[in-house]
Amino acid sequence: MPDPRDNLRKVRDGIKPVVALTAYDYPTGRLIDEAGADVILVGDSLGMVVLGYEDTTHVTLEEMLHHTRATRRGVKRALLVGDMPYRTYESPQQALATALALRDAGADVVKLEGGREKEVELRTLVDAGVPTMGHLGMLPQHVQEEGGYRKKGRTDSEADRLLEDAQLLETIGVCAIVLESLFKRVARKITNTLTIPTIGIGAGKDCDGQIRVIHDLIGSFPWFCPPFVTPKADVAGAITESVRSYIKDVQGG
Ligand code: KIV
Repeated sequence: MPDPRDNLRKVRDGIKPVVALTAYDYPTGRLIDEAGADVILVGDSLGMVVLGYEDTTHVTLEEMLHHTRATRRGVKRALLVGDMPYRTYESPQQALATALALRDAGADVVKLEGGREKEVELRTLVDAGVPTMGHLGMLPQHVQEEGGYRKKGRTDSEADRLLEDAQLLETIGVCAIVLESLFKRVARKITNTLTIPTIGIGAGKDCDGQIRVIHDLIGSFPWFCPPFVTPKADVAGAITESVRSYIKDVQGG
């Protein structure tokens, strides 16, 4: 049985960039898997694009487990990553319990946000043998305390701190790091310094792979789309048209 983390290792063998997308349910996970993505993340972006919350801080572990189980049923080949939601990894014990629950729900790997401030929790997971992915840069679970979403690495000191955090995470033993909303030059430097893969979102093209929220890619969340995404479909438009056509059929218009 191949180790699902081979989907990440191959980038460092110089084969191809990692292609990653989010999914939150069975049909989407299955379609993305069958289309050939390497990594599928049941992200806590679930809270915004599926559950209608204002930000990701409202997502509960129960919700993540429910959606991870559903997505797992559709994903046979890609590496399935489960996001650890806000305030479910505040201590090493809590982090391990959350990670094991996500693994029981079907995640091959768990992901959590943070650098040096999460060192003990990250070490606990890796030492317990739980494949773990890091997440640095703009951390959506911190949006309330930071007062908004801001690109990271603008100053030299901020860039240095991000690089140090990335090196620390590599030393701890995470299998890859998501770099979110970073200045391109900072993401490039981190990528060139590390031996584990970086997976970028809003961090330029020089990462080892890219991840996007599926709703942004297929145009199914028309109320917001980040500027770095060019939607490849208009699913929201297709839904609206289909419903209008159905209304006409039913009403005989
Ligand atoms: O929750 C999510 O979708 C994420 C991606 C933005 C990387 O963490």
